[in-house]
Amino acid sequence: MAISYGKMVIIGAGKVGSAILNSVLRMNILDEIVVVNRNQKKALGEVLDASHTTAFAYSANANIHVGGYEECADAQIIVVTAGPSIQPGNSRDRMVLLEKNINVMNDIMEQITRYTREAIIIVVSNPLDILTYIAQKKFDYPANKIFGTGTLLDTARFNKMLGDLCGVDAKNVTGFVLGEHGSTSFIPWNTVNIVGVPFAEFEKQFELKEKLDKEKLLHDTKVIGLDIVELKGYTSSGVALSACRLIGSIVRNEKSVVPVSTVLSGQYGLTGAAMSLPCVISKNGIDRVLELPLDEQGKSDLQKCYEHLRTAIESVYS
Ligand code: LAC
Repeated sequence: MAISYGKMVIIGAGKVGSAILNSVLRMNILDEIVVVNRNQKKALGEVLDASHTTAFAYSANANIHVGGYEECADAQIIVVTAGPSIQPGNSRDRMVLLEKNINVMNDIMEQITRYTREAIIIVVSNPLDILTYIAQKKFDYPANKIFGTGTLLDTARFNKMLGDLCGVDAKNVTGFVLGEHGSTSFIPWNTVNIVGVPFAEFEKQFELKEKLDKEKLLHDTKVIGLDIVELKGYTSSGVALSACRLIGSIVRNEKSVVPVSTVLSGQYGLTGAAMSLPCVISKNGIDRVLELPLDEQGKSDLQKCYEHLRTAIESVYS
């Protein structure tokens, strides 16, 4: 069936799915949004609530409704948010969700691939690097059309922290967090800059009162999402806007270069896992995966991340 451009399906009507629905409406770029959820009453509640916002805000003519997986047949984009997320007081490692969410993802992909292999799938459910990899491999889904929000969210957090420290707009910070959306994410410090001013000169250029501590910045970036879970019980806004950043680049064919979790196809000589690398995102999905020049520390961090992800994959998929 031909793609209906401007049609998106959100799978999962939980806190993240709801945040994405309400955030993407404000972008006024979609004509139809379908919410698919096991609990259809919950989905209907989210749909009705969101639809009333269009009386005041953009997307007045967006067709927002509940549906089944058959709606994927002509969808341009499918966002997968279903499955449990980390709970306050429990483990602070997203890998604890693997056993449960691998089955959830399997069921979802079985349903999706009954109807389409054309839609661009954005994976949000955790542990998303593993889920993205297994979904692509097990269902042989076009590798450029399935990717995860990955460390785009961590990058937003890092850019915001660094922008606040330097007194500049976070959007002017060029600094990707790469690798796993989890404990082995890393920052290629040699590529971090603000309008070309290298990281090594930040303290002088921005007259910082405190010395920039790379380890602390990376640590804080890694744990802030888990801290938010302890504070409010879950996270939703940051990951929703990360998903919307990708939806916008697809629908508008922006060709934005952002870190997303993609199945490695030989980058840095690696295959057999998915992790976040800078990718060009267009109406086709991933146009290109970029390999930033890594210094020795970056190469070591990348290897550690890869081995960690491979170990997790081998524990559930061969
Ligand atoms: C977070 C979740 C989405 O980091 O993994 O907020």
